[in-house]
Amino acid sequence: MTMQTLWRVPVAAHDDFDGWRDTARALIQAGVMPDQVRWSLPGNQAGDLFAAATPPAQPADAGADAAPVRASRAFVELANRAALHADPARFDLLYRLLWRLQAVPRLMDDRADSDVRKVDALARTVRRDIHKMRAFVRFREVAGDDGTPHYVAWFEPDHHILRANGGFFVRRFGTMRWSILTPQGALHWDGEALREGPPATRADARANILGGDPAEALWRTYYAAIFNPARLKIDAMVKEMPRRYWKNLPEAELIPDLIASAQAREAAMIALGAEDMGRPPASLDALDVAVDACRRCAIGCNGTRAVAGEGVATAPLMIVGEQPGDHEEQAGQPFVGPAGQVLRQHAQRAGLDLGAARLTNAVRHFKHLPRGKQRLHQNPTAREIDTCRWWLDAERLLVRPRLVLALGASAARGILGRTVSVQQERSRWLPLEDGAQLLITTHPSYLLRLGPEAGVAEEARFADDLAMVARALTGA
Ligand code: URA
Repeated sequence: MTMQTLWRVPVAAHDDFDGWRDTARALIQAGVMPDQVRWSLPGNQAGDLFAAATPPAQPADAGADAAPVRASRAFVELANRAALHADPARFDLLYRLLWRLQAVPRLMDDRADSDVRKVDALARTVRRDIHKMRAFVRFREVAGDDGTPHYVAWFEPDHHILRANGGFFVRRFGTMRWSILTPQGALHWDGEALREGPPATRADARANILGGDPAEALWRTYYAAIFNPARLKIDAMVKEMPRRYWKNLPEAELIPDLIASAQAREAAMIALGAEDMGRPPASLDALDVAVDACRRCAIGCNGTRAVAGEGVATAPLMIVGEQPGDHEEQAGQPFVGPAGQVLRQHAQRAGLDLGAARLTNAVRHFKHLPRGKQRLHQNPTAREIDTCRWWLDAERLLVRPRLVLALGASAARGILGRTVSVQQERSRWLPLEDGAQLLITTHPSYLLRLGPEAGVAEEARFADDLAMVARALTGA
């Protein structure tokens, strides 16, 4: 019996899919069969007693006229992810599949094939790990060398996903200076370039944390505020936020207490009437108090104060925005931030007296994402708008405006209770079932986002819409 040589082929780094692919192509072209190769990973070079140190073909040896190696797109996509799995045999599996693909180009369509199923399972696990890292990295502010804030996070991925996630964190936190430390290596972003660093420990990540650790406190406050006892489903929660991540999540410390007190808090909410909104409030004051206590959606539970409608109680014109922003939530008044200023300037030019109108919003709490010291605006979902619609209807019932101006699609949904395309339905009066007339236009924050050219045209359309409202008010 002849003993077959086993070639040991190094992979330069645990996540070096590109390097593996180049070598694998050359080996396939050299006719090296899967059971002749053992892929060896960094830190695991001891290998097999019979393994030869050098493979029979390196990429450079493969002749230029060698047959091309086939790899379907389905294979490349799955292999790219599966290569990041911690399974030490993953590159052997990938090579076996690549070898088999040369004879069976549609192999990846065979969902019953055990190699196809294995690679699919590895890729899925890696995708989940990537997603968990994006969801559960928590930055803490540390003392920077030059006094500017630097944020450090500690994370323990199950697989080799750190580099693959670098682009995501640069895009998401591009304006901050941060480091993500893991037992496998580190990423450092200085606002301009991404650098890699050696493996770290949790103690490294905790060094120099600023006194009071404000980011942690913020996360804890946010989590406690969005935790809705009436919606508590422990299994679903643990599935979304597996227990093994808890030790690095500041907010996870709160979970046992929040669960323990959930029943009592739910009873208190019901007693407050937040889950029982049968009768509309009898006055605008009662409406404001009730809206502030509303916890029927996640926005209502996020710890911000509700911003009530403002202005004349019997105004002939009601102007409806999307939701209060950062400035409005702090001031407790609608339309006082940048978008509000745009509205006020245009209204003045159109001769619309906002002091004689009612200003309100489709959603009463500020939906946002905490990012360091900032609160980033987030659009409410259709469901959240529909939940808050009850309050807008109640306000319309009390004020009874003859004209309603909806600023943007969320406001229009709040009035009509359906999806609205602003471009298709804007700039014409639409009858409402209570006899009032509705005009839909863009939201002023949209004008703020446009560049100079598109901005001029859109501002003119917005001005025309406000002029229509002014004319309808005066009967001109
Ligand atoms: N944008 C809105 O839609 N409403 C406000 O109150 C402020 C900004």
